[in-house]
Amino acid sequence: MKRIFTKITSKLNIEKGYYLKGRKFLHDDHYLEVNHKSFLENRKRPFRTGIINHLLSLFHNQTNYLEIGVRNPDHNFNLIKADKKYSVDPGLEFKSNPVDFKMTSDYFFKKLSSGKILAPDIKFDVIFIDGLHLADQVDRDIKNSLNHIKDNGFIVLHDCNPPSEWHAREIHKYWHTPAKHYWNGTTWKAFYKWRCEPGVNSCCIDSDWGVGILSKNQPIGNCTKNSNPFFEFQIFDETRINSLNLIDFKEFKALKLYDKHS
Ligand SMILES: C[S@@+](CC[C@H](N)C(=O)[O-])C[C@H]1O[C@@H](n2cnc3c(N)ncnc32)[C@H](O)[C@@H]1O
Repeated sequence: MKRIFTKITSKLNIEKGYYLKGRKFLHDDHYLEVNHKSFLENRKRPFRTGIINHLLSLFHNQTNYLEIGVRNPDHNFNLIKADKKYSVDPGLEFKSNPVDFKMTSDYFFKKLSSGKILAPDIKFDVIFIDGLHLADQVDRDIKNSLNHIKDNGFIVLHDCNPPSEWHAREIHKYWHTPAKHYWNGTTWKAFYKWRCEPGVNSCCIDSDWGVGILSKNQPIGNCTKNSNPFFEFQIFDETRINSLNLIDFKEFKALKLYDKHS
């Protein structure tokens, strides 16, 4: 009898421990602050789709659009207004994966460059990079995209403005952080690297987790001096307005770009 009683009380103590620890965690100031940052980011408008459609509307010739990383096409790809649209995804997150090229972006660009798919001289007006959100992959996607973008075209990147270091974690599946399932990965590092590249213009729309834009010719923002050579999050956090050339969509629309009338 005594043994059963001891067993029950120790089980209750463990559960009480779990409860107190969980309660403390959920009421932690930092946890609440990061939660609030996710909440604020989710309220920002427009979404990536509106921004991409605005960029495409600047061109009057037949427009070519490429999306790298599609998942469910109803969330973005199917809503894009372009004359010709192409999609690339190996199908890691959406089982039916109804895309044109069921492969990784590296393999797609390899085949494209060697003339095995599409026309060898094809150039896109907008390329949307939203595949694997790790810096070295995004860096390669940008480098490859620059070979296939028109001079006045735009390379668009989702998730360039992570609100906290937890959102910018490397491991997507680790959801036990204050950012929960929200994940921007380390895309910001690749975007920042190219922001520092002379000959590439860039800015980032402060909406939908940071919609980064790069262009060879369009005057969307001069390159910046590298003030964060080790890509440290805290430095990025303190300098994000300049590091990303962070602007709101209204400001972006007021920029004098080469458009259908130029
Ligand atoms: C964030 S989702 C894309 C969301 C979509 N672009 C949208 O706006 O709703 C990321 C997608 O990238 C795909 N992906 C992962 N690794 C990739 C790679 N190496 N190349 C291309 N796509 C990749 C995944 O399968 C997933 O469907």
